Amino acid sequence: CVLGVDLGTSAVKVSAVTKDGNIIAQEEMGFPLRQPKPGYAEQDPEDWVSATTVAIVRLILTDKLKPEEIKGISYSGQMHGLVLLDKDNQVLRPAMLWNDTRSTKQREEIMAKMGDRFIEITHNQPLEGFTLPKLLWVKENQPEIFAKARTMLLPKDYVRFRMTGNLAIDYSDATGTVMLDVEKQQWSQEILDAFDIPVSLCPPLVRSIDDTGDIDDWYAEYSGLSTDTKTFGGGADNACGAVGAGIDSPTKVLSSIGTSGVILKYEPNKETNYNGVLQYEDHAIPDAFYSMGVTLAAGFSLSWFKKTFADDEDFTSVVESAAKSTAGANGLLFAPYIVGERAPYADADIRGSFIGIDGIHKRYDFVRAVLEGIIFSFRDLMDEYEAKGSQFDTVVSIGGGAKSPLWQQIQANIFNTRVVSLKNEQGPGLGASMLAAVGLGWFKSISECTKVFVQFKDVFLPEPKNVKKYQQLHEIYKKVYPSTKEITH
Ligand code: XUL
Repeated sequence: CVLGVDLGTSAVKVSAVTKDGNIIAQEEMGFPLRQPKPGYAEQDPEDWVSATTVAIVRLILTDKLKPEEIKGISYSGQMHGLVLLDKDNQVLRPAMLWNDTRSTKQREEIMAKMGDRFIEITHNQPLEGFTLPKLLWVKENQPEIFAKARTMLLPKDYVRFRMTGNLAIDYSDATGTVMLDVEKQQWSQEILDAFDIPVSLCPPLVRSIDDTGDIDDWYAEYSGLSTDTKTFGGGADNACGAVGAGIDSPTKVLSSIGTSGVILKYEPNKETNYNGVLQYEDHAIPDAFYSMGVTLAAGFSLSWFKKTFADDEDFTSVVESAAKSTAGANGLLFAPYIVGERAPYADADIRGSFIGIDGIHKRYDFVRAVLEGIIFSFRDLMDEYEAKGSQFDTVVSIGGGAKSPLWQQIQANIFNTRVVSLKNEQGPGLGASMLAAVGLGWFKSISECTKVFVQFKDVFLPEPKNVKKYQQLHEIYKKVYPSTKEITH
C-alpha cells in the first residue's frame, strides 16, 4: 500500500491505500493552533511531526499494517505556512500559517514596490495569507531570526524533512509562496532581489510525483516504518484535493463547500493570468496548473443562519426545508459576504445582505436564498472563466454541497452544467496517496491512476426552466456587491 498524509490546520489524517484504490485504514491526530494576538495563527512544526508519527504508529500497531508493505508515502499540506530553519536545520520560530493575517503592511509594501509586475510574475496578488508577506514580516519585526534563517519550508515539507533528512518543496506549494516565477518555473530572482531575500533560503524544487528519498534510520526507529519506504514530492492541499476529486482536465471544475467555498479549475498552461482576481497555482499534476477562487463564507453562511434562526433543528432538515420554496426563493436574494469576501472581490469590509424580503416569505425561503446565494457567488467565479472562453462539462461537488441532493440540483441549474458527486470522497489524503502510487510507477500517469482511484456517484443535470430563471437572478445578484459596497463598509 501507500500512505497519503493529509496535513491540515487542526489535524493530520493518514490514509493507507492499496493499488486498486481501496482505503484500508485511516488514522487521525490533532494538534493545537496558537492565536496569541488578533490576526496571528501559529503552530509548532514539531507538533505536525509528532501527530503524523502517532497516526503512522497506530496504522502499524492498531490497524496491523506491515511496515515492509508500505511502499511509498506522499503528502498534502495546508498551504502557504512559513517554517524557518537555521544552519543546523533547527526550527527558528513557530510556523506562521495561511490564516495568519498580520502582514497587511508587507502586502502593501510589495504592491507599492512592484505593482502589476508582481502579478505578472506570480499570477497572484501578494495576499496576507501567502508566504512572502510573512517572510517580510519576520525580516522587519524579528531581524535577528531572519539573519539566522538558512532554509524556508512549507508545512508538509517540514514533515518530509524530519522523515528523510531531505529538504525539498514541490511546485504546487512553491507557487503558494508567491516567490515562484510561474512562466519560468523557477524561483523569481527579480522578486528575491527586490526584497533582499537570498535564493539559498528557497529549497530545491521537485515535482509532486518525484522521489524525495527513503525514510531515514532515525525516523524508521522512531515510527516503526521501514527504511525501504520511499517518499514523494506531494502537493498543496487544494492541488491534492483536486487530484483526489479527479480534476485532471480543463473541462472539469471542483466546487467545494466547507466553512469557506472553493471553485477550482484545471489549467493546461502557464500563460493564463487572471490578474490576481483568482489564485493561480501549479497543479500536483506535472506540467499542469489550477486556478481557484474562494468564497469566504460558504458553509459558514448556512451554519450562521441555522445557529441564528433554527438552532433547535438538525442541519439536514433545515437544508431540506428549502425544497418547500421555489427556484429563486420566491424573490428573495442572499449575498454571502458575511465575513467579507476573497474572490472575485478581494474585500475584507463588504458585508452580506438579504434583498427583496416580502411579507409572504417563510423561513424556508431564507434557507433557499442562502443555498442559492452561495452558489451565485461561485457563479461569479465561473464567469471569470467563461470570460476567458472556458467551457465545462462537469462540476465535481464535494463537501457540504455534495451532501444534499437539493443543493446539488441548485448547483447544476446555476452552473448550467452537470454536477457529480464522488463515491469515495476522501479529498487531499487520497490525492496524496495517488501521487505516491504514480511516483512508485504503479500507474503511468495521474490520469491512469484517476481511472482506478476516483469514481463518480450521483449525477445532476441542469433543468432548462430553472437555468433560465437563475440566469436572470444572477444578473440581479451581480448588482448587489456594487450597490451595497458603500453602505456596508
Ligand atoms: C488557499 C488557502 C487554504 C489553505 C488551507 O490559498 O489558504 O485553502 O490551503 O489549508
